[in-house]
Amino acid sequence: VTDAGDPGAIGLLARYRRLLETTRQLASTLDLNALLNQIVQAAADLTDAEAASILLYDPAKRELYFDAATNLTAPLMRGLIVPVESSLAGWIMTHNEPVVIADTQVDPRHFSGIARQTHITTESMLGVPLMVKERPIGVLEAINKLHGQFDAEDVDLLMALGAQAAVAIENARLFQQSDLISELVHEIRTPLTSLNMAARLMQGEASAAGRAQLVAIVAEETNRLGELTTAFLDLARLESGRAPFQVQAFAVAEMLAECVQLMQGRAAADQMTLTIEVAPDLPRLRGDRDKLKQVILNLVSNAIKYNRPGGAIRVQAVLEADEWRLTVRDTGVGIPEESLGRVFEKFYRVPGAEGTAQGTGLGLAICKQIVEAHGGQITVASILGEGTTFSVCLPRGEV
Ligand SMILES: Nc1ncnc2c1ncn2[C@@H]1O[C@H](COP(=O)(O)OP(=O)(O)OP(=O)(O)O)[C@@H](O)[C@H]1O
Ligand SMILES: [Mg+2]
Repeated sequence: VTDAGDPGAIGLLARYRRLLETTRQLASTLDLNALLNQIVQAAADLTDAEAASILLYDPAKRELYFDAATNLTAPLMRGLIVPVESSLAGWIMTHNEPVVIADTQVDPRHFSGIARQTHITTESMLGVPLMVKERPIGVLEAINKLHGQFDAEDVDLLMALGAQAAVAIENARLFQQSDLISELVHEIRTPLTSLNMAARLMQGEASAAGRAQLVAIVAEETNRLGELTTAFLDLARLESGRAPFQVQAFAVAEMLAECVQLMQGRAAADQMTLTIEVAPDLPRLRGDRDKLKQVILNLVSNAIKYNRPGGAIRVQAVLEADEWRLTVRDTGVGIPEESLGRVFEKFYRVPGAEGTAQGTGLGLAICKQIVEAHGGQITVASILGEGTTFSVCLPRGEV
């Protein structure tokens, strides 16, 4: 191939060079997010397309969900679910074949739900399956060819990229999980040791009162293991992007009232007051209601756990110029300055917290994942011995 003459040939050489460069990059990235973004960017460049996206497959739900796209923001993507049975992406995956379509609007396999939710029109499309050892993990799509139509070269290039991308995605996922799993195993050891010890002691325990005490320990520790597994699964789902977000517009005041109602009993048992402050006539908030409710519940639960009898907890919602601010303020024990930067880490607990209250150390990590998936931020301010304020800022978005 010479550099003069057919302009398509030059383009092709440059494109293979780009493919090579990308595959080398992919092999060295273990950060799943960065990886997915590199892949979609390269996919759009290589095929001369307006946009590109990756849909990953959730085998439990038989759904595909958007995980990276050059033209969609994270919060928008979270709500985009594509059914396997009635979509082009699903067809590509189940048939394990690339598909080129000049006009998706007239193809009966096209799933029109995405256009409705994103206002993005898809005309031409090229999609290839992502497979790891004959197991489908998702689909890589290039959308709207900029010049002309997708051709055989585009298919070859995207297939080659897809093959590399699938392996890289799988590696990054395994890496992420091994990290999480070793942490989980570590955390499970403590309750297991307590259970084992209680069992041994029970064998030699003669008094009924002594046995009752040991039984109580067993109940408490199994309870803790149960909570740990639930929280861990929640977090693993969020981190791997396997927790689809159901975005809707909802009344904040009602959601907060439900939280307070659920927690009021616990607060009252410790002689604490739990109050809400919400401005009247607030517009509705756009987000995943259940998940944001879980955030507030976690924060209120902490505010009660790390508080003192007679303490006060205030939950507030305000709408500022372009963002929502939900705050949970307590008059509790506070967090020492050196721990403030770490409370959102998985399994982190302020030294000495074990003595105050039971917990897995995952609550705030879960909150952070949820808030950031909404394009928001969660922050903490605290004065030791006086109290703590957690603030959740969420983009106002369009309602
Ligand atoms: N309102 C608060 N006041 C003081 N310390 C807090 C507060 N909220 C959190 N912390 C500290 O941060 C740590 C991490 O909180 P997080 O909610 O992640 O875990 P947890 O409450 O220990 O366990 P879990 O919520 O999973 O049951 C807590 O262990 C506690 O030390
Ligand atoms: Mg907590």
